[in-house]
Amino acid sequence: MEALLEFYAANGVDCAIDDQPHDRFAEMRDARAAKMAAMTQNHHSAQNNAQINQQSSLPRAPASNAHEAPARVATQTVPDAANVEAARKLANAANTLEDLHAALEQFDGCNLKRTAKSLVFADGNPNAQIMLVGDAPGRDEDIEGVPFAGATGELLNKMLAAIGLDRTDVYISNFVPWRPPGNRAPTSQEIELCRPFIERQIALVNPDILVPLGGDATKQLLQTTNGILKLRGKKHPYTLGERKIDAIATLHPAYLLRQTAQKRLAWQDLQMLKKRLEEIGPKKA
Ligand code: URA
Repeated sequence: MEALLEFYAANGVDCAIDDQPHDRFAEMRDARAAKMAAMTQNHHSAQNNAQINQQSSLPRAPASNAHEAPARVATQTVPDAANVEAARKLANAANTLEDLHAALEQFDGCNLKRTAKSLVFADGNPNAQIMLVGDAPGRDEDIEGVPFAGATGELLNKMLAAIGLDRTDVYISNFVPWRPPGNRAPTSQEIELCRPFIERQIALVNPDILVPLGGDATKQLLQTTNGILKLRGKKHPYTLGERKIDAIATLHPAYLLRQTAQKRLAWQDLQMLKKRLEEIGPKKA
């Protein structure tokens, strides 16, 4: 049993996400069966249509839809441009953060939702001038349903305290709102499916300063391939509707827990953030 648990842990299975076990093989079998049924039905209705058309004196309907893509089943796992477009439509229809939260709960297009326990939407103050964005929730966040929980969150709290702020002064979210299994990096498809939601979330919060935390969130938000050590320590323009705000990227607290010597760089970034906040002044009502 111990060896089995070690094997699970080594493969990223480090917590139970439900009280009841899920038979994913059975789910896949059911999905395949549903897909086959949809294809067979399409095929039969195509044949029926063809027969009806042959018997009828009416002009013929298009010959067959048997070769068209089968009806999309709920368990589709490969997102495509249409899914990303559906995500964007859903996200852009949200006029409040509450709407957006509900839209994400309703959205079934991203595989990560299936294995995560929680939708980790946000923490902090929706009226804040500063919005922090991490990459994706980890184990603690998945359990608690709050971004930056556990040791990483404690360090983030200390970083904020270093410039006189706490979580009530900032809004915190993640690029991807569901924990990738075993904390693996989200795939580029998962990232593109989640992008419309985080972009809408940033637009709805409408912060004065955006703070991407770590290389992954920074690359995705600034749409660059440069590394965090190149991107931090500078202000980058981020387009928010009609206005351009500053993005001030810094090192991820999880990285700083491992590379404590780099905390001095994060300290410099925090000083830049504080200075910029003072220059901007309080948020206009
Ligand atoms: N890392 C992140 O990027 N986000 C979290 O919420 C936790 C860890």
